[in-house]
Order: sequence, then C-alpha cells, then structure tokens
Amino acid sequence: MSKIAEISFVCLGNICRSPLAQGVFQDLVNREKLDQKIFISSAGTGNWHIGNLPDERMRQTAQSKGIKLESRAQQFQSKDFNKFSLILAMDQSNLIRLSEIAPNALPPDKLMLFRSFDPESNDDQDVPDPYYGGAKGFEEVYSMVKRTCPPLLDYIKSRFLNL
Ligand code: 4NP
Repeated sequence: MSKIAEISFVCLGNICRSPLAQGVFQDLVNREKLDQKIFISSAGTGNWHIGNLPDERMRQTAQSKGIKLESRAQQFQSKDFNKFSLILAMDQSNLIRLSEIAPNALPPDKLMLFRSFDPESNDDQDVPDPYYGGAKGFEEVYSMVKRTCPPLLDYIKSRFLNL
C-alpha cells in the first residue's frame, strides 16, 4: 500500500547531508508512530557516489547521536518528481539543479528548501556542504538537521495527514 506522504531529501552527492536528514527524520517519524504513513528517501543531483553508503564521517556523527545511516546513494531523476509529494533541497544550488530537471507543471509547493523550516535560519538557508571540511562541519550539519526536522514534521502532518 502506498503511503500518504512521500518525502525525498536531496543534496549533491547523497552521501552526507541528505542521508543524515533521511535518518534523523525517519527516527522522528518512527518515534511518533507515523512510519506507516510517511515514506522517506534521499537522493543526490550528482551521480558520483551511486550505490555507496553515506560518508564514513557522516555515519560516525549520526551514530554518536544514536542514528544509523544505511541508505545507498542514488541520483534524483526527472521522473522522481511524480513519485514524491514533497522534495526538500538541502541547499540553494541543489534547488536550482532540481528546478532545471523538473517538469514544467510542477506545483510550486512540491519543491522546497529544507532549511525554510529551520526556526534559527536567517538569510542563509543552505545546509553547508561538509564534504571537503573538518569534523566540525559534520556536527554543524547535524545540529541544523536535528532542529529543522520537528517543524518539518509538523508541516507534513498538517499538509498531508490532516493532523
Ligand atoms: P553531500 O556532500 O552533497 O552532502 O552528499 C557531497 C558529497 C560528495 C561530493 C560533494 C558533496 N563530491 O563532490 O563528491
């Protein structure tokens, strides 16, 4: 049976930011016993890491918070716009790339920036790419993702689940 809301988190490589968002959001959805209603996935706009587990540093950061990341990287395809109710880009460049491959008739609220739900975001709504940086970057990404998931779930509950 298909679920009521199908959510995809999208970054560039699908080995750091979007797998973390997938794992943290899945954990929250499981805790609220909504996993039968919400399907959660992630993808990258790039194809370099297809089939790979998340980056070891991202997995370690998540593991230290009790979250196991087990997704395998995949590339977001144009046809995937039909498969999901809501696609969340992790930064502005991911949003632009997704817009470029989106069907013309894409409803405007189908593709959004993840951090538009961040209660602490200001002008900058990017989740910074931690791939070429140090350990601090992975912790920073975790903090952003962790605080953004609850308001995102509230939005999904009200928009798709009538809760
Ligand atoms: P992500 O990070 O988009 O958060 O998965 C990256 C991972 C790999 C690369 C870039 C960003 N890369 O260029 O291989």
